[in-house]
Amino acid sequence: MKMNPWTLSVLLLLAGPLGADPGWHVEYPDSFCVVEGSTATIPCSFTHPKVHRRTGVVLPVQRVVWCPDHEICHGTTPNVYDSSNVRADSRFLYLGDLVRNCTLKIIKTVKQDAATYRFRFETNGRGYTGPIGVRVRVTDGEDVKVRSSVTDHVVKEGGQVTLTCTSACSFHQLDVHWYRNCHALSDTGPALHLSGLTNDDTGNYTCSLDSSGQKTSAPWSLLVVEDEGFHWSVHLKVAVVKGVVLAVLLLLLAGAVFAKWCSNKTKHI
Ligand SMILES: *[C@@H]1O[C@H](CO)[C@@H](O)[C@H](O)[C@H]1NC(C)=O
Ligand SMILES: *[C@@H]1O[C@H](CO)[C@@H](O)[C@H](O)[C@H]1NC(C)=O
Repeated sequence: MKMNPWTLSVLLLLAGPLGADPGWHVEYPDSFCVVEGSTATIPCSFTHPKVHRRTGVVLPVQRVVWCPDHEICHGTTPNVYDSSNVRADSRFLYLGDLVRNCTLKIIKTVKQDAATYRFRFETNGRGYTGPIGVRVRVTDGEDVKVRSSVTDHVVKEGGQVTLTCTSACSFHQLDVHWYRNCHALSDTGPALHLSGLTNDDTGNYTCSLDSSGQKTSAPWSLLVVEDEGFHWSVHLKVAVVKGVVLAVLLLLLAGAVFAKWCSNKTKHI
């Protein structure tokens, strides 16, 4: 008997424990971050038994719907997309299908789009809503920051610093660009490691998120200074020399005073 993967998986689902509901599932990220004004595509997929476990009746999906901030998203709950109705908000595009893909696209995101979105699909007589939902956060992109491994902006020669580029959207933006005094550095990635610091590393560091282009952090200034330890040893040597000279002078003075006293004593006798 020839069996395609679909038949096989349906058979596996049918073989699942009675009472449990293994066949109904929605898969999407827990949270999603979008920079205001940009377009976001929220990945989503769903599964359900294609035939009823006991009756064997085929269960085609008849309606799919996406709702903001609602646990069940059923009936006439306000939604951003409903396959059985004319769409209320044309900025929300359903890229999915009625089989397994429920990908949602948000065009030109605005601050008010921030919400927890849930996907629901309905077959004849039954519906299922992905329980957790996708928490969509909308950031203005002004929160890009450079953080440093050291609290002081002044670092000794030979020392090291790790700078990290952070933003509310950093989860989706691993491609970070770094600049020193507005000149691009070859390093990319969320962290910039600087070690064996020299005066050439002094400057203002900024980072930007590639996805949005101009979303650049405020500068973080680094000043590399000469090693103070060197100066300390010089100061110490000078102090020691001064001390020795002073001691010798005191000894000479004491000797002279003693000699004088001796000669005075001799005169008296
Ligand atoms: C779902 O559809 C979107 C848009 O067409 C596509 O990019 C994505 O790869 C699809 N996902 C799956 C799991 O097929
Ligand atoms: C870094 O920025 C500060 C002000 O933010 C400025 O005074 C300083 O000259 C800048 N340093 C360099 C090397 O550009």
